[in-house]
Amino acid sequence: MNASSIGRRVRQALRGRRAGIGTFSPRSSVGVDFGSHTLKAAEVVRSNGGFTVTRIGIIQTPRGAVSKGVATNPEALGPVIRTLLDDSGIRSKRVVTALGGQSAIIRLLTMPEMPEGELERAIAFEVDRYLPAGVRDVKHNYRVLGRKPQDGGAQLEILLVVAAKELVDRHMAPLAAAGLTSAVMEVTPFSMVRAVAPRDGNGDTATVYVDIGAESSDILIAVEERLRLARNIPIGGNALTKAIAEALGLDIDAARALKEQRAQAVVEREPAGDLRQLHEAILPVLSTITTELRRSLDFYQARLGDEPISKIVLTGGTAKLRHLAPFLSGELGVPVELGNPFGACEAADVPSEYAADVAPMMAVAVGLALRRLTARAAVIAIAIVALAVWGAVLIAHVNHLRRDLAKATQEAAQLRPIAQQVQELKRTAERVRTRRGLLQQLLATQMPASQFLETVRSVVPPDVWLTSVTAGTSDVTLEGYTFSYPSVARFMIALGESRSVRNIDLATSQRETVADSDVLKFRITGDLVVLPPVTSHQGAPSRTEASP
Ligand SMILES: Nc1ncnc2c1ncn2[C@@H]1O[C@H](COP(=O)(O)OP(=O)(O)OP(=O)(O)O)[C@@H](O)[C@H]1O
Ligand SMILES: [Mg+2]
Repeated sequence: MNASSIGRRVRQALRGRRAGIGTFSPRSSVGVDFGSHTLKAAEVVRSNGGFTVTRIGIIQTPRGAVSKGVATNPEALGPVIRTLLDDSGIRSKRVVTALGGQSAIIRLLTMPEMPEGELERAIAFEVDRYLPAGVRDVKHNYRVLGRKPQDGGAQLEILLVVAAKELVDRHMAPLAAAGLTSAVMEVTPFSMVRAVAPRDGNGDTATVYVDIGAESSDILIAVEERLRLARNIPIGGNALTKAIAEALGLDIDAARALKEQRAQAVVEREPAGDLRQLHEAILPVLSTITTELRRSLDFYQARLGDEPISKIVLTGGTAKLRHLAPFLSGELGVPVELGNPFGACEAADVPSEYAADVAPMMAVAVGLALRRLTARAAVIAIAIVALAVWGAVLIAHVNHLRRDLAKATQEAAQLRPIAQQVQELKRTAERVRTRRGLLQQLLATQMPASQFLETVRSVVPPDVWLTSVTAGTSDVTLEGYTFSYPSVARFMIALGESRSVRNIDLATSQRETVADSDVLKFRITGDLVVLPPVTSHQGAPSRTEASP
């Protein structure tokens, strides 16, 4: 394989990785930095070939809601993020976030050059090596940073980022709770560097970037955009606060306030009075930070880079500790300056005094916003996962659905008693309908018979004596005595005229002698006629339907 084809493959690999994390470049973008102490948001807009920070906001993180660089309490964070964006006037629904602390693993690998498919497989094996015990479900992403010629071949420099899927999902949850989706997720040191890296850097020197937050600090060394080292140490402003609280017998809030207002790192003469006490309290913590920094610098110089370290750029809230920069510079023998994310982007729309005060804390948020606007710092633009874009959208979508479902379930619970009442009413109505049907049936069978009996009573002639009247559902039988056939005939005519019976027939008749008198015993049969029901407003019963 010749040098040009290797170069082409490296370029392809770079392009492929970039394509994976999205080439869409919007006009404005919002970054949200989940700090354990403060949540920070920044909106950056593309303007005149550069960038302008248009809106920024900072809000206290609910206690314990972000820990070790990961959101742990989405319910508490969601509304606070919403307030942060509303108060800052940020309306975008899409934001860029990052995992912080040690929640993501950042590794620089050197691997022999190989075809891209095999490289992916080799990296997947490599990922397994870095996983903490018990963690199997991870997201990873990598970027080929460059290649170094080696005897007979070349070696690829690869930047690998790995994060447990569970942590990525957990970090996304508060965004969904705030009605947001994440455009992309990366790791905080990359964002911080993007915001404060010098635009005019040259490839001859290395820069050390140090973000000292509350819980932990990121240390990153890069030559221009080529990452050389990335570490996170679990020490930051909280350790200073705790040291003051213990030394002066104060509660944490009072100690923090004192630290922010009065504490300082001492450069030359030791201070007097209460400042001296404060100084003595924080010195061990400052020494630990210094030692960790020195170890990173030494490691880089001994093992990683030929390029000398030109300076240290400090960011994070703790970088605001008075005289910290000159203190570290004196201890480490390297120039130290405060990083200013508003140097890279104009902050025309933000009051300058406020911007200057919060600048070090805003580096990660501004860098996150820049993540979608610029291809600059491509090397450190690696997202944790290419599919974080879609993962985030899906998670947010699922969460929206969950919220909708929860809302619907709640509404259904509220409606349940009413629905039960409606069901009960339906059942009652059904019962009433059934009963009415039965009654109608009953009436249909009983009414003709009872009507018939009424009729018989009114039409039976005085010379006719009935001994039995049997009414079925549709027929009737009358038995009795009279003196003559004309009497029976008159009775039968009267029955017919009553229209309550038809098909009247003299079924049997016979002469008998009762008490020395001649009588005629008869049996008359007929069919009952169903008359229409009588309703109160109809007045007299209509007989039309009863007509044969
Ligand atoms: N003027 C100041 N002097 C000293 N420390 C300060 C000052 N202002 C803020 N801090 C400290 O900075 C820390 C907050 O910084 P920052 O917002 O960068 O942390 P974070 O991002 O919330 O934390 P982490 O990244 O560790 O989760 C707190 O410990 C706070 O007390
Ligand atoms: Mg932070």
